[in-house]
Amino acid sequence: MNILSCEGLTKRFEEANKEPLTIFENIAFDLKQAEKVAIVGRSGSGKTTLLNILGGLESATSGAVRLMGKDITQFNEKEKGHIRNHQLGFIFQSHHLLPEFDAIENVSMPLLIRGMNPYEVKKLSIEMLKKVGLADRETHKPSMLSGGERQRVAIARALVTRPKLVLADEPTGNLDFQHTQQVYQIMLGLMQELETSFVVVTHDLELAGLMDRTLKLQKGQLA
Ligand SMILES: Nc1ncnc2c1ncn2[C@@H]1O[C@H](COP(=O)(O)OP(=O)(O)OP(=O)(O)O)[C@@H](O)[C@H]1O
Ligand SMILES: [Mg+2]
Repeated sequence: MNILSCEGLTKRFEEANKEPLTIFENIAFDLKQAEKVAIVGRSGSGKTTLLNILGGLESATSGAVRLMGKDITQFNEKEKGHIRNHQLGFIFQSHHLLPEFDAIENVSMPLLIRGMNPYEVKKLSIEMLKKVGLADRETHKPSMLSGGERQRVAIARALVTRPKLVLADEPTGNLDFQHTQQVYQIMLGLMQELETSFVVVTHDLELAGLMDRTLKLQKGQLA
């Protein structure tokens, strides 16, 4: 079964007294388990909009987004929240960590939301921080971490739930070359281990080349 399957996906912004603005139309694509795809395209082509729709963070004008066979465009907010917490991981350009919480607490958050036993959660979170090379930064708050370290905490938080699919929007957009390489190595290594499917929006063609496929969003079409 496909992890992700889109069909006839269209996004249009409509405002009164204005021509409707079509961002993309009739997009279709499939993603298998453990498959990794890059989405490239110029600024404003709709990459973030598409990624947000794939994750149920934004609604489509029409079309279907099937996650493990279920069309999430038909889900209500509660059902979307549930599938996001159980099947999806998000990594954004800016880490979106909670500033008042330390690294372990940030990584723990999605598991605590599930209502998992706090002792078990702490164990899993520490294990995941080790995997991203931050065993000695567990009690650091985001302000006490470097940009690359923050992004690695965000990766640990996205993967601690062992999601089927990770969606990332320019995950290394704020990092220099060296940290970009390091973050990608850690991220891809972990996803290989967990057999996670991956959709990443990036401007970096070299990084896109590390994926199984690259799709280009251009003039409202994905090719
Ligand atoms: N709420 C909105 N109303 C109208 N137009 C919008 C709205 N949100 C986004 N857009 C338009 O949709 C287009 C696609 O935006 P999006 O953020 O998806 O682009 P992107 O490919 O991610 O660009 P970048 O590479 O700069 O991040 C843009 O032209 C933007 O102006
Ligand atoms: Mg964007």
